[in-house]
Amino acid sequence: MNLTELNRIATAMVAPGKGILAADESSGTIKKRFDAIGVESTEGNRRDYREMLFRSKEAMSQFISGVILYDETIWQDAKDGTPLVKLIEQSGAIPGIKVDEGTQALPMCPGELVTVGLDKLAERLKKYYERGARFAKWRAVIDIGSGIPSMTAIRVNAHALARYAALCQAAQIVPIVEPEVLMDGDHDIDRCYEVTQRVLNKTFQELRVQRVALEGMVLKPNMAVSGKKCAKQASVEEVAEKTVRLLKACVPAAVPGIAFLSGGQSDEEATAHLNAMHKLGPLPWGLTFSYGRALQAAPQKAWSGKAENVAAGQKAFSHRARMNGLASKGEWQSSLEKKAA
Ligand code: 13P
Repeated sequence: MNLTELNRIATAMVAPGKGILAADESSGTIKKRFDAIGVESTEGNRRDYREMLFRSKEAMSQFISGVILYDETIWQDAKDGTPLVKLIEQSGAIPGIKVDEGTQALPMCPGELVTVGLDKLAERLKKYYERGARFAKWRAVIDIGSGIPSMTAIRVNAHALARYAALCQAAQIVPIVEPEVLMDGDHDIDRCYEVTQRVLNKTFQELRVQRVALEGMVLKPNMAVSGKKCAKQASVEEVAEKTVRLLKACVPAAVPGIAFLSGGQSDEEATAHLNAMHKLGPLPWGLTFSYGRALQAAPQKAWSGKAENVAAGQKAFSHRARMNGLASKGEWQSSLEKKAA
């Protein structure tokens, strides 16, 4: 393992002004997104859509540090035969790959999930590296509800995250460690804080036990937010203050960077929250975005599967990428959204 190189890549992934495009929707998830805009989820349409994003010059060269791909996408070529990975590299961004194989029911723990995909992971990582991937992602899912999460679910997911991270580093790939506490419930922000704290503490404990080099990884957490169905929604300032407090308490300064998931927040909320956190600096790590929905909802709608809408889709993507790029430096203002509308 060359830790200097892993650290260089991890640092580039969270460079100020830039963040990560999570374009790694599984076939099932992208079908849901396409259904919402009336587009059939064929391999060709998925390729055309992602090619549109990766050819967005302004967004990709100025505001996107890396792109997380799904297995299908990393092997696909653009219409003109250029591998999509090459398009990403040519833009100056770093290609990455989702390597978990989704979730399964966790035995003995009703309603809870464990992320799978460790079998043959070492071999798969080798092939992804040869294809150009320099970082990877593994997402654990923790739900909040009555009597959950159990300590069992937190432990097995943390264990798997650390097993994955160690295998990545051995393969000279930077692991994005993503323990996502879902925001779907009716819990308040303090319950989210408390569960996320337990999850992060257990995750870092496992990372240490399994000898993962913290300098060569990126953490992808949820923010401390109110559950979507909670009657009392926390303000932007409260989310920012509690999230920064939580992360400072749980994430060692040796970690080069933290890149949030958006998790169902609206586009503008995700941007405003990140921006507000940067007003509370200085922070011990890079702090940026690794958004899926909050970067792609607008371009998906603008594109709607039509070749004549590619420029509009790219404009919508560039706008959101620019807004989040500014937020990653604390330089975003809501007036910038209106100006572009
Ligand atoms: P969202 O930003 O849509 O939550 O997706 C990010 C991601 O990669 C989840 O694994």
